[in-house]
Amino acid sequence: MKTPAMTSPGKLEDLYAPVRTELEAFRSLLESEMSSTDALIHDIQQHILSMRGKYLRPALTLLSARLGGKSPEASIKLAVAVELIHTATLVHDDIIDESEYRRNRPSVHSKYGRDLSIVAGDYLYAKSFMLIASIQDPWISQALSACARVMCEGEMKQIEKRSDYLMSQDEYLRIIYQKTAILFQASCAGGAYLGGLGLEGSKRLGDYGENLGMAFQIVDDCLDLTQETRDLGKTAGLDVEKNDVTLPVLYLFEALAPVDRAELLAEVRSGAPDLFAKVRDKARSTGAIDRALERAGHYTRTALGALERLPASTTRDTLSALARFCYDRAY
Ligand code: IPE
Ligand code: IPE
Ligand code: MG
Ligand code: MG
Repeated sequence: MKTPAMTSPGKLEDLYAPVRTELEAFRSLLESEMSSTDALIHDIQQHILSMRGKYLRPALTLLSARLGGKSPEASIKLAVAVELIHTATLVHDDIIDESEYRRNRPSVHSKYGRDLSIVAGDYLYAKSFMLIASIQDPWISQALSACARVMCEGEMKQIEKRSDYLMSQDEYLRIIYQKTAILFQASCAGGAYLGGLGLEGSKRLGDYGENLGMAFQIVDDCLDLTQETRDLGKTAGLDVEKNDVTLPVLYLFEALAPVDRAELLAEVRSGAPDLFAKVRDKARSTGAIDRALERAGHYTRTALGALERLPASTTRDTLSALARFCYDRAY
């Protein structure tokens, strides 16, 4: 049975309203970080800037800092740094997946080619870590370096596990924790720490971010099957084509009888024609998508639970609405 949407918390823009000023400061620092005196580098960076994402991770950093009562300059720097890490992973992810679109625009590699986009992604990482170093806080430096390292581990594990549709759910969950949830966790915990929430409060915010990130990736996995490219802003159906294992497809394989499972496994591994429609339809009819969304619902509720242990405030309400928004994207 379908888990119902959790409410209608409105548009992202409305949810970001409490940190509108900080987000403006974030955007202007991002713009200055992305400008260069070199014409080619400037051109590539401007293309990346023009591909505006949802800015979820920086908004989480700024809201978490606000929860601590302070929005120091350092939290703006951290917000830019997490967006740069995220963008770097997307530039590289699109090369790996040979994906032509990102945020409704040509991906960096489809505009500038593979070689330049590999280095452009590295450049974003380098920029990010220069900003992190400028915060001059060992806790922040340690947390963000560990986060970037774990994200690479997750991406490598995902590549290693391609086509392994019989992997355990725990293996899948570990991969998405590494490649996605840990950056949500660091964005929230880092913001809270810089906002003066203390280590215990930062840990709570980190738990919220981690669980939100898990739900976010599971919803993203489902959207790859259920949404069209033009709504998604990136090529739909790519996970099936690239044999990247996602939760709804893992659940689909679990739901099939052994003979059907072996047949579909052979088809996906050989890239049989019309595969995407077949996988999508079967994932729907077996209830695999609904089951994955239930799992995303579980993580969302855990994220909301982590917030409940913090003092009530309007910022806390916004963080809670943001978690529900991320879940409701699936519907
Ligand atoms: C895409 O993240 C990558 C995933 C972790 C699924 P977002 O959906 O937050 O990407 P943008 O920044 O809004 O484009
Ligand atoms: C997130 O996973 C990728 C990274 C953390 C780099 P996806 O591969 O699902 O992201 P999309 O769907 O391409 O945005
Ligand atoms: Mg991808
Ligand atoms: Mg995806």
